[in-house]
Amino acid sequence: MSLFFANFLGRFIIYSYMDSFYIVGGNRLEGEVVIDSAKNSLLPILAGCILVEGEVLLKNVPRYSDVLAMCKILEHLGGKTRFIKGEVGEDLYIDCRDISYNDVPNELACTVRSSIFTLGPILGRMGTAKVSYPGGCDIGLRPIDIHLAGIKQLGSKVVDKNGYIYADGLKLKGEDVMLSFSSVGATENIMMLAVLAKGQTRIFNPAREPEIVDLQNFLNSCGASITGAGSNLIVINGVKKLHGTTYQAISDRIEAGTFMIAGAMCGKLEIKNVATDHNLELITKLSQTACKIERYNDRIIIENRGRPISFGEIETAVYPGFPTDLQAQMFALASVSEGYSLIIENLFESRFKHIGELLKMGADIRCKNGVCIVKGKEKIYGAEVTAPDLRGGASLVLAGLVAEGYTTINNVELIDRGYFRIEDKLSALGGDIKRIKCEKKVDNCS
Ligand code: UD1
Repeated sequence: MSLFFANFLGRFIIYSYMDSFYIVGGNRLEGEVVIDSAKNSLLPILAGCILVEGEVLLKNVPRYSDVLAMCKILEHLGGKTRFIKGEVGEDLYIDCRDISYNDVPNELACTVRSSIFTLGPILGRMGTAKVSYPGGCDIGLRPIDIHLAGIKQLGSKVVDKNGYIYADGLKLKGEDVMLSFSSVGATENIMMLAVLAKGQTRIFNPAREPEIVDLQNFLNSCGASITGAGSNLIVINGVKKLHGTTYQAISDRIEAGTFMIAGAMCGKLEIKNVATDHNLELITKLSQTACKIERYNDRIIIENRGRPISFGEIETAVYPGFPTDLQAQMFALASVSEGYSLIIENLFESRFKHIGELLKMGADIRCKNGVCIVKGKEKIYGAEVTAPDLRGGASLVLAGLVAEGYTTINNVELIDRGYFRIEDKLSALGGDIKRIKCEKKVDNCS
């Protein structure tokens, strides 16, 4: 998506360009692709910058539209953000020394789910916060009760009124927090809140995703004292202040996984800058599809050798289980594989909106109560489809690449949330994919 914001009569207006992808299916993908820094690391790290009274330089930051939206939130709070030329791609400079506001209005929060990650850091830094309920991809209810329970546990008063969370954290202090579920966002929010709280906080049953470890490493590089991320107990000893740093986020395991699936479907890809041990579940499943895999620590070569065989069954789970963020892409693979595949989604109840679009392309999928059976077809066919959400959109791109004929994917600004110029990367590998620019609406997320 191309997004830009204008402050018009005191109100933020978001001009939204609803681009489309036009894909001619059937080309084999060959070559090298370099994976970008992880969107799901950058977003909490950007929120974490609110705590930092110094200059931060984040190396190699792609302009995901979710990252741009978080930058707008930091600027609204009084921070400064600027992209500058880096050794590889662009670096992002952030200066939150002069943050003076404590609110995130609906106009900004509605553009990115991760806006809720700012609640802990604003409260930790400013003592009070007023943050709107978040927007983001429509993949289910996505409540924030676990975030709020943890924040209250640390001594903050929280009032939920008219779509806003009002929090008063003037008496914050470290505490033991037991998460009722290992929520990624709640773990990150509570970690960030605890960084400047007096005393020790222990988070029991936290999420163990690699992005949590990355957030810990970033905050520690700013002077925080956090241990245990990646395990089932995180311990945070409060410090008085955080200082600036230079940091590079880990590579994006979901972008890497998407290209691995593309390789298994229709190519021979060398995928570079990837921590392959972050994708072990996926690699195990792909090794059952008859593709050839050469795995190294930081790169992987995946070669399709004819029609894939079904990977059998996947069931999404918290890390290190199969990631829900790769579930949709596995539907594209299953749709053209030989045999039946079973896909079970356990994390987000409406994360199946891509199925209706894949059916338009001739896929054979049946679902009941979150359990889907895909009967692989020898061929699927190009059609006009609409990206329902970020990862669902990526699955349509994969399907379009192998479909007979041409596919138009509308609403690709949802794909831009977490893939930076995916069409350029795929074209460089031989895919026939073009972006059609189209200004269609002006939206303020009402
Ligand atoms: C993060 C990722 C997202 C990924 C998801 C699960 C980022 C920016 N996004 O999202 O890409 O799909 O993890 O791996 O890192 N829940 C509650 N109450 C809460 C919080 C969560 O019930 O307070 C539920 C959610 O509705 C969902 C499940 O817990 O069913 C997982 O959510 P969570 O781990 O919090 O995901 P996010 O942090 O939103």
